[in-house]
Amino acid sequence: MIGFHKINKKIKPFNKTIFIDGDKSLSIRWALLASQALGRSRAYKLLKSEDVLNTLACLKKLGVKIIIKDKYCEIIGKGLNSYKYNNNLTLNAGNSGTLGRLILGLLIHSNKKIKLIGDKSLSKRDFARVVKPLKRFGAKFYSKNLNKLPLTILGPKLTKPINYIEDRGSAQCKSSVMFAALNTEGVTTIKARKSRDHSERLFKYLKIPIKLKKTKKYDLIKIKGKKEFKSFNYSIPSDISSAFFFVVLTALSKNSKLLIKDVNVNPSRAGAIKILSKMGVSIVLKNKRNYKGEKISDILIKSSSNLKSINCPTNLNSSAIDEFLIIFLVAAKSKGISYFKNLSELNQKESPRLKWGSKILNMMGIKTELTNHSIKIYGNPSLVIKKSIIVKNYLKDHRVFMMSAIAALTFGGQWKIFDPISINTSFPSFLKLIKKINNKTL
Ligand code: S3P
Repeated sequence: MIGFHKINKKIKPFNKTIFIDGDKSLSIRWALLASQALGRSRAYKLLKSEDVLNTLACLKKLGVKIIIKDKYCEIIGKGLNSYKYNNNLTLNAGNSGTLGRLILGLLIHSNKKIKLIGDKSLSKRDFARVVKPLKRFGAKFYSKNLNKLPLTILGPKLTKPINYIEDRGSAQCKSSVMFAALNTEGVTTIKARKSRDHSERLFKYLKIPIKLKKTKKYDLIKIKGKKEFKSFNYSIPSDISSAFFFVVLTALSKNSKLLIKDVNVNPSRAGAIKILSKMGVSIVLKNKRNYKGEKISDILIKSSSNLKSINCPTNLNSSAIDEFLIIFLVAAKSKGISYFKNLSELNQKESPRLKWGSKILNMMGIKTELTNHSIKIYGNPSLVIKKSIIVKNYLKDHRVFMMSAIAALTFGGQWKIFDPISINTSFPSFLKLIKKINNKTL
């Protein structure tokens, strides 16, 4: 039985400093790369969410030694292509598209068939997007439906490098091919629409032979494979996508202020800062610094009034892809009609998020115009919700749950939001942090 969470009161004004859970994209990438490095790698502040724990569980099944302590996680890598492939191996990616798609890139050398499965939500998502390029490296795939999980992969004797055009702006597709290139003799070339670039930054930091050229629309990436790299320690910064629920909570609450410490503000992830600043939200980045190729900062955010609607520039879509649901709440409170377009990828997430965003706004009394790739939101700066709202999303979509919770805490109403445990996939401390900010005992 899927449980629910009730919220019947707005949050009280607050002035707090908080720490958010670790970056999911970086935590998964650290683990996958550490498993292919030579030696003992350590991660501090690794996100201990289901998606990351599933990553570690998959690696253990591939014979990788992993030690998990309170303060750190250690992975003992044995170099490129060092996984042990047992007979009848099944790996479970759970709810995580990132894990499912990236790990396939590392499995293109498997000398035995490996089955990849996922939960109900992941099994509805598109895998053709990575199967197609990975087949060109020489990998074989077996499945009833090659577009979806469950899938079985078998590596060839020798993989060959490819030229690949990534045209969706998907970091998962780009990274899956980059990981396949790591283990492939020769030079793999990728022309990729802009998307988050943690993999590129990590490759550079690890001195994996990578050449990067940026044009306005595309990034050109060349990777020379088969170069061993050394183990590495990493302290995972906080996840900007998780931080944004609290940014919007503060922006939409009265007389409040929040400092969020040590957030990864990598420009390829920070589109929502630009979007919300254009809408009149007061966000300041403090104490900016570099860390192992990534950019880290504290985020200071204050209650914001006189919010403005936006015709959102599409060049910011990929760098804000996980933040749109929460940005829609700011649009709901803004003066005028906001327009977000070219967002069909949002319907490819854990659940069809463009549809869910619109559905929740409608339940709140906000008018929207929805297509398969766009949404217009008719903002209402004086919106106060008095009625009951029930949100029933059963696809473990953590961001739908958290968007609903922030709406309840800022607009009022009596909310019953299903599937609170979905937050365990990306942001396990979300509800505890809300309680802390609201001065409630845990
Ligand atoms: C991610 C990439 C994005 C994002 C997801 C994490 C990653 O997906 O939505 O939450 O870590 O590479 P796409 O690459 O499919 O856009």
